Amino acid sequence: MQQGSQSQVIVLNQNSQREQGSKAQLANIRAAKAVADIIRTTLGPKSMLKMLLDPMGGIVLTNDGNAILREIDVKHPAAKSMIELSRTQDEEVGDGTTSVIILAGELMAVAEPFISQKIHPIQIVGAYYRALEHALKSAEAIAKDVNIEDKEAIAEIIHSCIGTKFSSRWGDLVVDLAVNAVKTVYINNGGKIEVDTKRYAKIEKIPGGDLEDCTVLNGVMFNKDVTHPKMRRYIENPRVLLLDCPLEYKKGESQTNVEMMKEEDFTTMLKLEEEEVERLCSNIMKFNPDVVITEKGVSDLAQHYLMKQNISVIRRIRKTDNNRVARVSGATIVNRPEEIQESDVGTKCHKFEIKKIGDEYFTFMEDCEEPKACSILLRGASKDVLNEIERNMHDAMAVARNIIIDPKLVPGGGATEMHVSKELRKIGQTIEGIQSQPFQAVAEAMEVIPRTLAQNCGCSVVRIVTDLRARHAQESEESAYFGIEGNSGEIKNMKECKVWEPLAVKRQTFKTAIESACMLLRIDDVVSGLSTKKGGGKPSSGVPQLEE
Ligand SMILES: Nc1ncnc2c1ncn2[C@@H]1O[C@H](COP(=O)(O)OP(=O)(O)OP(=O)(O)O)[C@@H](O)[C@H]1O
Ligand SMILES: [Mg+2]
Repeated sequence: MQQGSQSQVIVLNQNSQREQGSKAQLANIRAAKAVADIIRTTLGPKSMLKMLLDPMGGIVLTNDGNAILREIDVKHPAAKSMIELSRTQDEEVGDGTTSVIILAGELMAVAEPFISQKIHPIQIVGAYYRALEHALKSAEAIAKDVNIEDKEAIAEIIHSCIGTKFSSRWGDLVVDLAVNAVKTVYINNGGKIEVDTKRYAKIEKIPGGDLEDCTVLNGVMFNKDVTHPKMRRYIENPRVLLLDCPLEYKKGESQTNVEMMKEEDFTTMLKLEEEEVERLCSNIMKFNPDVVITEKGVSDLAQHYLMKQNISVIRRIRKTDNNRVARVSGATIVNRPEEIQESDVGTKCHKFEIKKIGDEYFTFMEDCEEPKACSILLRGASKDVLNEIERNMHDAMAVARNIIIDPKLVPGGGATEMHVSKELRKIGQTIEGIQSQPFQAVAEAMEVIPRTLAQNCGCSVVRIVTDLRARHAQESEESAYFGIEGNSGEIKNMKECKVWEPLAVKRQTFKTAIESACMLLRIDDVVSGLSTKKGGGKPSSGVPQLEE
């Protein structure tokens, strides 16, 4: 190509689309608002449910922010990043996934005038970060401590967090289940607290039966049956042996060839294999177990030997289930049968039973001495209801975990947001220069939570929010606790209505919302549709379409 001064160097592929500068920012703001609008109605105790059809044709019926956004398919990159937010929130603290999106959407929306006024985004971002710092401080200032030994108090908090959910119709069901489950898996190891509900509290859903049958087992269950119909299905005080090796003759790691010259050689080989299995089984039988559970397979021959000793065998149990069984029975999972010791045998589980529910067999290991794992058995009329209860259980357990790890509470019902908003306004007045306005805008954005709550319970939004603002402005000791009672839509003291939220959730909500809004505002270039056909240039190398 001739190096002429007129020739145009095209760096970007021509198929790609590009938005730059404030155009990109405004588009991102629109996308963020659109995502927030999708789930606006699902905030609070009078929230609406959403019914979503997934690509496979299944339906999801929920008002959990994260669950809704997870199902919908969006194209705009900024919207995608918003959806990631709610996932982060869900993984970090489990609750507040709706609030975070609404707040982030509003923070983007209030930035729109500044972008149009050509205030540099970095100034807006700077102001937002300053506001975040003050917001966290003022939320912490009104937090109160909670005694985690007090089961009633914890139940109350979970109740107010789950009160916004579909399952709140069945009263305390989910709350009780969550409290029990979390209490079971709670380990205080000399000050090091561990609450691993993900690993050790498993939710098992079995359609059919009544909701009243939902329980937290004092032990675990899993969807398996004994390998041989003649084996015992009910054992009291069983000795439990857990393995993660196959009870079969060992095959070579890599492909092995054996050349045989004589006819007897084949018989010898088979015999050796049998002896191997027999040896394996005799190692096990030495310890007189009643139940042997393995993650791998059990050959027919091994079953035969164990059967003769009146041992019940369960095979191909999942690793995660095996870990839970180990916790409830006190057994250690063993890999080499020849190295079993008496201490590896679990005796802490007092009932082994296989029950038939519906047309499937389930193994129950119950009546355990201080089980540090549990299964939560959910029964209900339909799969959709069970799925929603499961999601609610996750929220409830997350809330319980948050309080146990960080026992501080802030008032709900928009009270905290209103308080933070008021404090930010006050501080904003002392800030000079260009950041003052965006700082005040954060204060304004915080009001979106009480406003949305008011909207969702169908009362006159402007009047209630103005009223609430006035109450908070009174500067009395109690004023920070006034919020919107979500069921009646009246302004009440949240201390009296007992609507509380963990500080950890609020803190994470503010952080995630503001940080992601900042991230989106700092984007000044959106390049999409990069073709994969040929490496048409280096889009990251700054200015894509250079004219020479
Ligand atoms: N009884 C109540 N009265 C008023 N506000 C309430 C009440 N219960 C909860 N809230 C408020 O509702 C909001 C929580 O609503 P919701 O649980 O629907 O959404 P989320 O927690 O943000 O997201 P998700 O639970 O879907 O992950 C919080 O701001 C909380 O303070
Ligand atoms: Mg919630």
